[in-house]
Amino acid sequence: MNLDKISRKDLYDILCNMPKAELHIHIEGSLEPELLFELATRNGILLPYATIPELRAAYDFTDLQSFLDIYYAGAGVLQNEEDFFDMAWAYLKRAKTEHILHAEIFFDPQTHMARGIPFKTVINGLDRAISQAREELGLSASLIPCFLRHLSEDDAFAALEDALPFRDKFIGVGLDSSERGNPPEKFARVFARCRELGLRLVAHAGEEGPAEYIRHALDLLHAERIDHGVHSLDDPQLVARLAQQQIPLTICPLSNVKLRVFSSLSAHNIGTLLAAGIAVTINSDDPAYFGGYLNRNYTATFAALPELGAREAYQLARNSFQASFVDESIKNEWIRELDEFFSGMEQELTPAPNNGK
Ligand code: ADE
Ligand code: ZN
Repeated sequence: MNLDKISRKDLYDILCNMPKAELHIHIEGSLEPELLFELATRNGILLPYATIPELRAAYDFTDLQSFLDIYYAGAGVLQNEEDFFDMAWAYLKRAKTEHILHAEIFFDPQTHMARGIPFKTVINGLDRAISQAREELGLSASLIPCFLRHLSEDDAFAALEDALPFRDKFIGVGLDSSERGNPPEKFARVFARCRELGLRLVAHAGEEGPAEYIRHALDLLHAERIDHGVHSLDDPQLVARLAQQQIPLTICPLSNVKLRVFSSLSAHNIGTLLAAGIAVTINSDDPAYFGGYLNRNYTATFAALPELGAREAYQLARNSFQASFVDESIKNEWIRELDEFFSGMEQELTPAPNNGK
């Protein structure tokens, strides 16, 4: 495959059309203002914003907490199973158009349970959308409930109890919300319990927090993937370990800029982490709040970082399949599809021989 001769225009098309997986998307963060207003009306909820542009104007964040305050308030319009279905179905239809073959979807049960919404209502709505996506769109997806790290570990244990009757509807657990001051060790016992139960484990770490939180997520929580992890670059030994053990990072470039982890996309360290041999992936985090879905995360990042070309596009898409929690045989099938996409591209881009004319 000659990936060096591809123009920036062709690269844009490759990024948008190549098969890929998304491994870091909070479904509540895919709730677009239009649907948010529709659900508020449907459920008789009075919003503190009169219009959609007024709501959008509030999406001007200074850090993670300033985003989370608005994000949890927005999730307050979700009341019934149908609401969770509609939100997830909208994301899955969008994912299909972006050539996402597989999505591992986070949700925050505790924010809904605190409002009196049973876990059953949340998971049944999300699960129904996923089943419909499998049947009607041929898209694969699975669910990962996250513990809210600003709450206590006892709270996390209570959420786990509520979730376990629906064990067949989710593949693992995650850890999200306010990172600073809520280190991974706060959740060591509940993650140990989840590990005993055979659940897959992921954790947000090193988004705003230090590299030490990434090490502790690995050593104390036994996280198999790190969500964000961009602060790993502050610790050269950790970078070497992530590369050597091929521990995936699910990086969300537009989120990082919106939440001011980086001043701009051109200041992002994703190219450096990739060049260090880490299994980096690109993801959207909360696309309704951060200005773009998965393909926009790819195209804007590649536009800002000249060191990223077709070779890196291939690597990132390959990593997204490799880092997913599906059987090896399915991963290999998707990687074969990716390889075929790139060899098709190469043929299209290589001038046909002119037979001596
Ligand atoms: N919940 C939703 N988005 C999040 C993020 N970027 N970091 C932590 N928790 C989140
Ligand atoms: Zn996240």
